[in-house]
Amino acid sequence: MVTKLIFDCDPGVDDAVALFMAFAAPQDLEILAITTVGGNVAADLTARNAAIIRQIAGREDVPIHAGAKVPLIRPPLDAGDFHGESGLGALPLFAPTKGVEEGHAANVIVDLVMRHGPGEVTLAVTGPCTNLALAMRLEPDIIERLGLIVVMGGARREGGNVTASAEYNIWADPHAAEVVFSSGARCVVMGLDVTHQVRSDPARIAAIAAIDTPAAQASANLLAFSSALERDIVGGAGAPIHDPCVIAYILAPELFTLRPCQLKVETSSRLTVGHTAVEFGLQDPAAARIFWATHADADGVFALLNELLAR
Ligand code: RIB
Ligand code: CA
Repeated sequence: MVTKLIFDCDPGVDDAVALFMAFAAPQDLEILAITTVGGNVAADLTARNAAIIRQIAGREDVPIHAGAKVPLIRPPLDAGDFHGESGLGALPLFAPTKGVEEGHAANVIVDLVMRHGPGEVTLAVTGPCTNLALAMRLEPDIIERLGLIVVMGGARREGGNVTASAEYNIWADPHAAEVVFSSGARCVVMGLDVTHQVRSDPARIAAIAAIDTPAAQASANLLAFSSALERDIVGGAGAPIHDPCVIAYILAPELFTLRPCQLKVETSSRLTVGHTAVEFGLQDPAAARIFWATHADADGVFALLNELLAR
């Protein structure tokens, strides 16, 4: 069964690899739209970057709509340290032949969800949740109508990556995340607890670099950039591929283990804003609407990534 997908992102090095995965699976994913948001870098750059990745992937058939330039309440806070000034690391850039379409991302999300049947549209969110929160406020009926929402964000056991207690996507727009997670929509959440299990070590990057396709060559370049930064800044064993875990879940959910939970977002504490309080002790687990990913089959995710990049 083909999944109808809206992919909301802030490319961003790992968003770009996730986009390559999604673009390479037309027999499984009907991408209704790519929507972009300010996040890792400013909104004009995330929109341009999505168009660059789309062109490398040869998928100009997929429309891109730019969205929110700033978070709902907080000032814009980028993550340029981890994605480079362009947002695509050291990837050679070019002016994409095809630009973005008219129409704000939030309006496009509302329009596409309302035009399809109940539960038909899946939403992937790999940046701050601003566009989705705006869409939910514009037309609350989309909450009931939406299919699954798969979000990259948050942290429980792992602690934060932008502060001691917060992961970037939630920290950048905690109010939007709270709107989404408190809406009652069904969400699978890929937090750092699981994305930190899926790291692009040198051997995995070399395997991608050995694949002779434009998407694989670009992905090897992007992952080498983020791994070098991870080593220099964090001292890590290889950069986690956060956003690809979202697309991997949509294509192969068996690669992940989920737990029903209640998830609340800290929005006001100066010290812990953006923290995701993930509670597994539920009165009625069967009634849960939020599912927290606790484990990933990392080798399986990379095998899927490599297979898609080779297409
Ligand atoms: O914390 C990781 C997340 O923040 C990823 O989505 C990455 O692209 C950045 O947006
Ligand atoms: Ca991202």
